[in-house]
Amino acid sequence: MNLSVRTTVIVWLCVPLVLAAALLLFDNYRNALHSANSAYDNALYASALAIADRVVLDGEELEVDLPYIALEMLSAASEDHVYYKVVSGDGSLVTGYKDLPSADAEPESLDGDAAFFESRFRNQVVRVAEIERSIQRQSRSIFFDVVVAQTVGERDKLARELTVLYGSRYLLLVIVVIAAAWISASMALKPLKRLQHSLEKRSNHDLTPIEVSAAPEIDVVVAAINRLMERLRESFLDVRALVDDASHQLRTPIASLKTQIEVALAEDNPEKIKESLNTLLDTANRTGRLAEQLLTHTKTSEMPDFENTNLSELLEGVVRGWVIRALESDIDLGLEHTDDKICIACSPTLLEEALNNLLHNAIQYCPAGTSVTVRLYRSSGKVNIEVEDNGPGIAEADRSDALKRFRRINPADTIGCGLGLAIAAEVVELHHGKLSLLDADSSSGLKVLIEIPDADRATE
Ligand SMILES: Nc1ncnc2c1ncn2[C@@H]1O[C@H](COP(=O)(O)OP(=O)(O)OP(=O)(O)O)[C@@H](O)[C@H]1O
Ligand SMILES: [Mg+2]
Repeated sequence: MNLSVRTTVIVWLCVPLVLAAALLLFDNYRNALHSANSAYDNALYASALAIADRVVLDGEELEVDLPYIALEMLSAASEDHVYYKVVSGDGSLVTGYKDLPSADAEPESLDGDAAFFESRFRNQVVRVAEIERSIQRQSRSIFFDVVVAQTVGERDKLARELTVLYGSRYLLLVIVVIAAAWISASMALKPLKRLQHSLEKRSNHDLTPIEVSAAPEIDVVVAAINRLMERLRESFLDVRALVDDASHQLRTPIASLKTQIEVALAEDNPEKIKESLNTLLDTANRTGRLAEQLLTHTKTSEMPDFENTNLSELLEGVVRGWVIRALESDIDLGLEHTDDKICIACSPTLLEEALNNLLHNAIQYCPAGTSVTVRLYRSSGKVNIEVEDNGPGIAEADRSDALKRFRRINPADTIGCGLGLAIAAEVVELHHGKLSLLDADSSSGLKVLIEIPDADRATE
């Protein structure tokens, strides 16, 4: 799912913020509860002390003259209930609620000599304070416990009120942060809107650089788009030049076809008509070749789909396709490869086109009795293909020209439109490789060397 930039910013900012706020709120609640307990515990303790002060001895019996004022201290200002009891050292009840829980072995907290803990009494949660005191009788001490309990409604209410207070502040903070994030994301996205308008306003032919100055992050994108525009402009100009060249190249054979048809139509002599038709056939063949080459050339202007290909097999297929033509021209065509399985990621169709053009040249321009050898081998992280002949070759000064479109070295050659080497070079470039025209190893002839980087073995 693709979220908008604004939503992404808000989600990534708010989720951690809300989680942190929830944790803080929980911590605040615990602290508030602790503070409330401390405050109310002091009052409980004071009540327990006040009761203990009123415990007296009536003969052997303990008695309590209960100071109601002490308990009122606790209950007057609150809705909480207060319970108490006084238990003598032997466990018998002196006064108060018999079932009121006493401190077990380990009370929750000990503050001075008082034990504090939470318990349940009459189906309510109560906070209990318990102290132990004694009265001297002659040389003997008579011990007793005072237990005072209070329901926790007020404490909980105070803790809740404090939590709500903090919670509302956190909520306000979250809302302010979301609003700030929303506004800042909108501000940051404004240059993108400007870029969008600037692109939408452009005509199809306008490939000049975009001029939108914005934040450095967006400037980087604009620079990348501008580089792409520049490449598009170059390839657009290249395609236009090709179309111009192609229409120019097509005009000549079409004009010549027209003239030859007119000559044939004006002729009565069947022999002469046959002659004209043969010339017509030659021109039609040349035009056909030109159309084929132009079609092949257009394929090299698109990025092909690469697939893992066994080049040894591909080369065998291509060479096999030229055996009969080579035999007819009395040319010795051979294939040499050291490895039966040289595989690379490439476009097999385009590589076949390139190799067919090189073999077409070798067989077309080499006289009878010569030989053409195709080689395939690996060399320092590259896969190399050679097409070598011992024909007339191309003079070193003409080699870079021969690689250009529609350039023919020997205008006396009737067949050919000057696209074969250009096509081969462009196919090799699409494979990030290099095509070079070299002297053949023998005394004369041409060696076309194709080097394609072998990504899998580049580190070998
Ligand atoms: N093996 C070769 N031996 C000698 N000359 C060659 C060889 N290969 C190419 N050339 C020269 O280079 C020129 C350019 O070759 P290229 O294949 O580009 O065009 P072409 O053969 O004239 O036309 P086409 O597009 O029909 O192949 C040729 O006209 C030819 O003169
Ligand atoms: Mg050619």
